[in-house]
Amino acid sequence: MKARQIKTNVHWTGAIDWDRRLFDALIPLPDGTSYNAYLVQGNQKVALIDTVDPTMTDALMSYLEDVPVVDYVIANHAEQDHSGSIPRVLAKYPDARVVSTPKGRDMLMALLLIPEDRFIVVSDGDNLSLGDKTLEFIYAPWVHWPETMLTYLREDRILFPCDLFGSHLASADLYVADEGQVYEAAKRYYAEIMMPFRTSIEKHLEKLSSYQIDIIAPSHGPLHNRPSFIMEAYRSWVSGPPKNVVVLPYISMHGSTRAMVEYFVGALIEKGVGVKQFNLAATDIGKLAMALVDAPTLVIGTPTVLVGPHPKVAYAAFLANALRPRLEFVSVIGSYGWGGKAVEQLTGMVPNLKVEILGPVLSKGFPQEGDFDALDKLATAIAEKHQERGFA
Ligand code: FEO
Repeated sequence: MKARQIKTNVHWTGAIDWDRRLFDALIPLPDGTSYNAYLVQGNQKVALIDTVDPTMTDALMSYLEDVPVVDYVIANHAEQDHSGSIPRVLAKYPDARVVSTPKGRDMLMALLLIPEDRFIVVSDGDNLSLGDKTLEFIYAPWVHWPETMLTYLREDRILFPCDLFGSHLASADLYVADEGQVYEAAKRYYAEIMMPFRTSIEKHLEKLSSYQIDIIAPSHGPLHNRPSFIMEAYRSWVSGPPKNVVVLPYISMHGSTRAMVEYFVGALIEKGVGVKQFNLAATDIGKLAMALVDAPTLVIGTPTVLVGPHPKVAYAAFLANALRPRLEFVSVIGSYGWGGKAVEQLTGMVPNLKVEILGPVLSKGFPQEGDFDALDKLATAIAEKHQERGFA
């Protein structure tokens, strides 16, 4: 494939990974991804902004075959899906320097063994002139790592924000063609890695509001030529009002917990509360993360296994605790055979969530009338709390 022009002397030189289905040996990628690198050729100097995953270095190097000089490799982020090809680029261009934040340098030295003398470190607001094009660096720690920066190409009004505003989406479209599809993929990506850092991201959004941005060129997925679409989406995920929804991940082994879940879902719907139900035996964990972005209430459904919650449920609780969604209420429903500590263990696993724990409902064996009554009361309590707070 040829490099794809974005503006005069600004090209996409990335790689589309149609086949990748897992990131970090954890995150599902149902639609593949791309690693977007960009070549910016000024009339005096040439910069490559980010590189590609080391599995696809050859694709990047093929774009660079006819590029005699690269002066700078801008490393917005040290994670290997963007930095992993830097050593090959540095080997091809012995005079090229890597431009990063000081923390980025330290991380790249540790992760990729790049010698210290190959770096130029930059601070927030620093400029780098390429002649007729100017790069400005915007320090933006904790997009999801502490060393990140964004790069702004002033003359062309292009923002290169690396992971921020990106989407794991393999697509032939250079620019967003289907906003609904990209919204879903970008929200999934935000939920999986950025949600715990939403306070930082809110500050980055605020800072970016003073920049004139015509194009956002992230390092995953299609570029945004309507930046307001993705910026507004991020604002809603970071600080928009929660929705009138309960997220309900569960496991059932012999049908008792499933009967509890099915009854409870019906009760919530009757009371006007939305539900997102996930059977953890088969669910895509990314969809669960996405549901947690704007839900105020999590109800976990579990049977009792070896006196505690089912391990797959414990995993979901661990994940919810790590992702720190904006939850306000948590409860547990489920079943047991002869006793146990499923509720205590589950609620003890979510210390990061500053939530009110609503009374759990556990049936001994298959649920009976009293259990269904208790589920009705829990559904009523949730509906009232959502209403009091104006969640719609
Ligand atoms: Fe796409 Fe944090 O790397």
